[in-house]
Amino acid sequence: LDNGLALTPPMGWLTWERFRCNTDCDNDPDNCISEKLIKVMADRLVADGYRDVGYKYIIIDDCWLAPERDNITKQLEPDPKRFPNGIKHLADYVHSKGLLLGIYEDFGTKTCAGYPGSEFFLMHDANTFASWEVDYVKFDVCNSDPKDFAAAMSFYLNQTGRPMVYSCEWPLGEYARGIKVDYAAVKKVCNLWRNYGDITDSWESVKNILGYYAINPGNFSNFAGPGGWNDPDMLVIGNFGLSKDEQKVQMGMWSIMASPLIMSNDLRTIDNFSKSLLQNKRLIAINQDSLGIQGTLFNTLGQLQVWKKPILPKGSYVIAIIHTADDGRPTKASFHPSEFGLTDSDGYRVTELFDGNSVGTYKPDTLFKISVNPHGIVMYAFIPVTDNKLYLL
Ligand code: DGJ
Repeated sequence: LDNGLALTPPMGWLTWERFRCNTDCDNDPDNCISEKLIKVMADRLVADGYRDVGYKYIIIDDCWLAPERDNITKQLEPDPKRFPNGIKHLADYVHSKGLLLGIYEDFGTKTCAGYPGSEFFLMHDANTFASWEVDYVKFDVCNSDPKDFAAAMSFYLNQTGRPMVYSCEWPLGEYARGIKVDYAAVKKVCNLWRNYGDITDSWESVKNILGYYAINPGNFSNFAGPGGWNDPDMLVIGNFGLSKDEQKVQMGMWSIMASPLIMSNDLRTIDNFSKSLLQNKRLIAINQDSLGIQGTLFNTLGQLQVWKKPILPKGSYVIAIIHTADDGRPTKASFHPSEFGLTDSDGYRVTELFDGNSVGTYKPDTLFKISVNPHGIVMYAFIPVTDNKLYLL
């Protein structure tokens, strides 16, 4: 969507995967969907360094609404008990921290969790979000046929004059109905779009999503670029279900796929490993590379998958090699950079991206040896030696 926003993949934090539809503030006051939770996470985003590496949007997913619209004005209302000061107040708080506020709605009569949806009220709700000074809206597809509504909402959001990133689940709605997605149409009206099922906190789920992105139906990767991104769903790094290697796979692959980096985790209890992985400046730089090209599956190396993404400076590439099989031991392999289309005869400076170690200079025909842990990843930047700028890598 050409609205001047999301020129690189949006980064932030969202309630859904970790906190779901927990509305029980009486018994679980620290974890229910509430003003308190959003404020605490906003504080952590700032105090623990996430904002400063790019995680700017804090997004409230489903279950923030009161059970009914206002009787007379028909305006959406947040649950009065859980959001006692309203959404504008929360936006002011978030903005005072140098962050941006996102909110969720649904094109249908009801949200997936049964709260009032936007059907028949698209313009009204766009205006409400703008008046609350919201910066990002996520629109879901439960109880609706999103095809007609996604473009209309895009129009109404634009008409408010307030810049709001527009996240659509429209392609996911089509996918779920077995309809071929018209990504050109999606890209015209949305800044980011979900195209596959919801992530859960498990390797199985991450692997399934990567499987879909490997197949790349309709070449959806080609539609990614400044202003519009494929969204493989939230980062679940720092929760319960992924091993260290699996967390590295998610962060590395979301970087190479130019995916939105939207965490859903508990920033109050996250450990140092996950925190520094989420804040890895090299991986973030690759994700945010201004060319905005989505990396794709390039080749296989035995049972390993080789993914490739062009980045700046010109002629540079990131290569990620993942091992998704369950054989329980590291797989060793070797390749010549030329096999992956790295053919600059002057050679490349190669940097390992998780730790930032330089691994030397490689010509297209120099043998490159790797060992990849099970459910693991290795990832390298290849930068032409003729480019003498040092960049972040
Ligand atoms: C389905 C979406 O795909 C999820 O990301 C989340 O927004 C839930 N609905 C909320 O009900």
